[in-house]
Amino acid sequence: MRVLQVSAELFPLLKTGGLADVAGALPAALAAIGQDVRVLLPGFPAIFAGLGDTTEVTSFEAPWGERAVLRIGRLAADGIPDGLPVYVIDAPALYDRPGNPYENRQRQPYDDNHRRFALLGWAAARLAQGLDPLWQPEVVHAHDWHAGLAPAYMAAAPHTDGPRVGSVYTVHNLAYQGLFPEWHFGGLGLPARMFQLDGLEYHGQVSFMKAGLFFADRITTVSPTYAREIQTPEQGWGLDGLLRARGGVLDGILNAVDEAVWNPATDELLPQTYDVRKPGGKPACKAALQQALGLAVNPDAPLFVLVSRLAEQKGLPLVLGGLDALLAQGGQLALLGSGEAWLEDAFRQRAAASPDAVSVTIGYDETLAHRLFAAGDITLVPSLFEPCGLTQMYGLRYGSLPLVHRVGGLADTVVDCALENMADGTANGFVFDTFDVPFFDRAVRRAFALYQRPTDWRRVRATGMRRPAGWQPSAEAYLRTYQDARRARA
Ligand code: ADP
Ligand code: GLC
Repeated sequence: MRVLQVSAELFPLLKTGGLADVAGALPAALAAIGQDVRVLLPGFPAIFAGLGDTTEVTSFEAPWGERAVLRIGRLAADGIPDGLPVYVIDAPALYDRPGNPYENRQRQPYDDNHRRFALLGWAAARLAQGLDPLWQPEVVHAHDWHAGLAPAYMAAAPHTDGPRVGSVYTVHNLAYQGLFPEWHFGGLGLPARMFQLDGLEYHGQVSFMKAGLFFADRITTVSPTYAREIQTPEQGWGLDGLLRARGGVLDGILNAVDEAVWNPATDELLPQTYDVRKPGGKPACKAALQQALGLAVNPDAPLFVLVSRLAEQKGLPLVLGGLDALLAQGGQLALLGSGEAWLEDAFRQRAAASPDAVSVTIGYDETLAHRLFAAGDITLVPSLFEPCGLTQMYGLRYGSLPLVHRVGGLADTVVDCALENMADGTANGFVFDTFDVPFFDRAVRRAFALYQRPTDWRRVRATGMRRPAGWQPSAEAYLRTYQDARRARA
């Protein structure tokens, strides 16, 4: 099937979070099961820089009259001999800005984000209508609010010369909705009837998220538990009613691990590789990291690692609240993250107070992220909510047992070291049920208790490292969803 993936980021070209990892891995996984996949991205500087040569496909006009050029390049990808074809929207006035793709230097969203991302959805819909005479998708798969208008534009002008094209919309995070004031609606080129409750209107605003949820033929989100959670008022961000109404076309498809990128047996970013049968390189990774970060080089100190955006979602106040107890038990913490200034400051202060036990790196560093999972004994993911979460899966794969709050994709991937799970051989980490420091503390306590029983620790770690984590089953689930979406439009 010809599938167009529409996304704002894609690893390795541009990444601010897990969306990029998924957008980077899914095309190759779909190609591996025989699908003809292309990708559409906004022409941010990092995208053009990473792609190298691109050629012009055609030019087109935005609904508000601005002209843009559609270019195509190829990205080296595992299992796709000539590389993954990547369409890029060349519109420098909208996209040629340094830094973060969504925010300016003051961390404020750009004033024209409605246009910057409407153009992404618009170009996707134009491709569905045959904008590229040489390749027309049968299904458009739009990711997150940035691409949310694609299904709306497709629903507004479904007519093409060929068969109608199906649309699939994936929610990676319902918390980021792409809301804009009503007065921007007029310039978007959508029929007035779409700006209503049964449409993309959300409390008087234009919601790109709701556009995707309302107009797509099929909806998915990134774990089965999150698919249920977003249908409740507690986690529905006001969209739970719509999600319940569309529950029949909503599925949770769990993210997976790109094994070409995240594999301790082949990872070139590590000082030593290792795997579940020969884990001997892991202590060497730990010692090297402790040394590099200025931590006490102590093989017996359980090393807790955390790689995260520093945002409310990620539950970092629990880590701050539980840190004294963690250190008192002889643990170490190594954190890599960036985000909200108050969290950056709070963690920096903790590192300054205990430099040989707490290391805090503020910034974005792909290499250090790999080294942290390899060095760590425990990966902390205490998120308040978590649609899927990838770092707990990287922790599992690298033998750094995840310690997580039982929500979303964390609940679907981590099994607590309770005695019955130990007996069944399913335990692979530590899970707490209530989002509060005492519950987090108890899970940390459990991690220390297991660490003191090396045979049990190694067994649990091996269970985690052996967890099947590849993309194939999820790619097959997406393919079934695409087939359903096409049938919906037939
Ligand atoms: P989210 O998408 O909500 O941020 P995920 O767990 O799905 O959470 O994905 C986060 C991705 O971003 C992972 O690949 C993680 O390793 C990476 N990451 C997060 N913060 C950093 C950072 N400061 N440096 C390097 N990688 C990071
Ligand atoms: C979002 C979610 C995260 C998920 C990622 C990729 O950023 O916060 O839980 O893993 O998207 O789907």
